Amino acid sequence: TTWIVFYIILAYFAGAISSAILICKLFNKPDPRSQGSKNPGATNVLRVAGKLPAILVLVFDVLKGALPTYAAYIHGIDGWALGIVGICACLGHMYPVYFKFSGGKAVATALGAMFPIGWPLALSLLGTWLIVFRLSAYSSLAAIITLLLAPVYTHFYKPEFTLAVAMLSMLILVKHKSNISRLIRGEEKAIKSKKD
Ligand code: G3P
Repeated sequence: TTWIVFYIILAYFAGAISSAILICKLFNKPDPRSQGSKNPGATNVLRVAGKLPAILVLVFDVLKGALPTYAAYIHGIDGWALGIVGICACLGHMYPVYFKFSGGKAVATALGAMFPIGWPLALSLLGTWLIVFRLSAYSSLAAIITLLLAPVYTHFYKPEFTLAVAMLSMLILVKHKSNISRLIRGEEKAIKSKKD
């Protein structure tokens, strides 16, 4: 159990490293919390800083979900405890201690945290996100649909993780409250491909 606590704390502190804020600073770009959707995540970094910073943020945020969870898994932690490790990485991203507890929506971190459950799930989640994004050009809608389906996929693939994945999805869906109302009002910003 000491190791469980260790990985939970590690996951939180890794998750709390806001790559969006740090990478924008590194590239001398505006703070993502001050522009666009004001969300420190890959999508908004694409809006305020462009493609390369956004890709770096995406990779970093996926890894900070995946690495602590995967490390805990190879250390023999499984089942509900592993679920808590993954959720804590996302809580770190949402409520980061280093950034006055104001963080992002944890879509990329959650994908990373769910990847260790297995590659068929990882591919289903990525595939769903990509299809909805291609069809709609809304990053938020792609995330919302993917997270609604995540517990369903998990239920058929590894049912022991369904509850943890459902809890994670709920947390992230709540974080998308403003996106959901913008989508309903038809005011959500679509991602148009343009040259940097
Ligand atoms: O990854 C977060 C995404 O689902 C929405 O981001 O900036 O459009 O609120 P944003």
